[in-house]
Amino acid sequence: MDYLEIEGGKRLSGTLKISGAKNAALPVIAAAILSDQPILINNLPNVVDIRTLLKLLEILGAEVEHEADQARINPGPINSTRAVYEIVAQMRASILVLGPLLARFGECEVSLPGGCAIGQRPIDMHLKALETMGAQIEIKGGYVHAIAPERGLRGSKIVFDKVSVGATENTLMAAALAQGTTEIINAAREPEIVQLCEMLQIGGVTIEGIGTGRLRVEGTGGTPLNFSEDITIIPDRIEAGTYLCAGAITYSQITLEAINVEHLQSTIDKLEDMGCGFDYPSPNSVTIYPARGELREVNIVTAEYPGFPTDMQAQLMAVATLASGESLIEERLFENRFMHVSELNRLGADIWLKGNTAAVRPVEKLFGADVMATDLRASSALVLAGLAAEGTTRVRRIYHLDRGYEDLQGKLASLGAAITRRSE
Ligand code: EPZ
Repeated sequence: MDYLEIEGGKRLSGTLKISGAKNAALPVIAAAILSDQPILINNLPNVVDIRTLLKLLEILGAEVEHEADQARINPGPINSTRAVYEIVAQMRASILVLGPLLARFGECEVSLPGGCAIGQRPIDMHLKALETMGAQIEIKGGYVHAIAPERGLRGSKIVFDKVSVGATENTLMAAALAQGTTEIINAAREPEIVQLCEMLQIGGVTIEGIGTGRLRVEGTGGTPLNFSEDITIIPDRIEAGTYLCAGAITYSQITLEAINVEHLQSTIDKLEDMGCGFDYPSPNSVTIYPARGELREVNIVTAEYPGFPTDMQAQLMAVATLASGESLIEERLFENRFMHVSELNRLGADIWLKGNTAAVRPVEKLFGADVMATDLRASSALVLAGLAAEGTTRVRRIYHLDRGYEDLQGKLASLGAAITRRSE
C-alpha cells in the first residue's frame, strides 16, 4: 500500500492549475444516462471516483471512451439497470444513478450504499422524493428496487426537511424525464447543483430558480434528453480551498489558476480572518499571501452553500492548530466527521472534542509522525499538517486521497514541498 512521506517546514511558492470538481463531475456523468445520444464531458479530474462511476456506466452497457480529462459517453446501448454492490460499495455517490435509471428505463435496482467513515449518511430523502413522484420502492437483498408508474414518473411537489446535495441531484434527474412539473422546495444551492441544472437545460429541460432553494423543473414526459453541447466541469472549490490552506499553514505565497473565486468565498473569508492576504491577478485566479505575524484563531460552523463547507472543515482545522489563540469548529452536517482530530493530535496538535464542536488550542509547533488517513478530506488535512510539522510525517491509507485529489503529491511538489509517494 502506498503512503506519502513529507519533510515539513518548507516554504511553498509558485502557481497551480486547479482541476475540475469531482462532486460536479459525478452527477454530470450520471445524468448522461438520461440521454440516448453520445455526450462529451471536458475538464474531468483524474481521480479514482470518476473512473469508478464511468466503470459503472460501462457495466450498465454504455460505451465510454476516457482519456486525460475528457470522457465521451454513449448511453444509447445501456441494457442493464442494475447498479451492482461491487461498485456501489467502492463509492457511495453511485447512488446518483438511481434517479436517471428509473426515469429513463422505468425500473432499476441499485445496491444500498453502506456505512461511511464520516456519518450514517442515509438515503431516505432520495427514496421519499421518488416515491412522491409515483415510484414503488422496496429494499430487498441489500438493493433498492424501484419501479415507475406505467406512464412514467409524475411531476410533483417535493419538500425536503433538510438540504441534501445528493437528494436534490437525484430528484432533479428524475424530474427531467417526468410527466409535468416538479417543484423542489429546500433544494441544495451548491455550485455542483447549478452545473447539473445547466446541463439538464442543455439537454432540453426547462428549469427555473437555478441557484435558489426552490427549483421548478418541466419534465420531458419520457423523451430522452439530447445534449446539444459538450459539458465542461466547473473548477473544484474544495481542491482549491485545500491548496489555499497549504499556503496559509506554511506561510507561503501561492497562486491558483482556473478557479471560480465566488465559489471559494467562505474559505477565503475564514483565511482572511486568520490574517492571510488575498489578491486576484485575473477573474479566474487567486494569490494567497502569508499572514503577517502569527495566524489568528478562527470560529467556524459548517453549513450548506454559501456557508462554510463541511468538505473544508478538516483542512481549516489543520491550519487552526498553529493559530495564536483557541479556535472553535462546529460540524453541523455529518455526525462523525472528526476522525482527523486524534491523528492531528498525534502530530502535536491540542484539539478537544465536545459533541459536534472541536476546540483547537494553540500549540507552537507540530512534529512529524506516522498518521492514518480515514476519509478524503481528513487525509488532506493530515498532509497539510505534515507540510508544517517539524521532521518527517508519513500519511498512510492514501487511497482515500486518490479518490478525490488529482495528483496531490505532484501538485504540492511543484510548489516546492518535500513530499514523496512510497510503497510499504
Ligand atoms: C455531498 O454528499 C458530497 N458528495 C459530500 O462530499 C459533501 O460533504 C456533502 O454533499 C455535503 O456538502 C458528493 O457530492 C458526491 P448530503 P451527499 O446529502 O450528497 C443528510 C467529499 O469529501 N441526509 O448533502 O451525500 C446527511 O446524512 C464528500 O467530497 C439525510 O439525512 O451529502 C447529511 O447529514 C464527502 N437523508 C446531510 O443530509 C438523505 O436521504 C447532508 O448530506 C440524504 C442526506
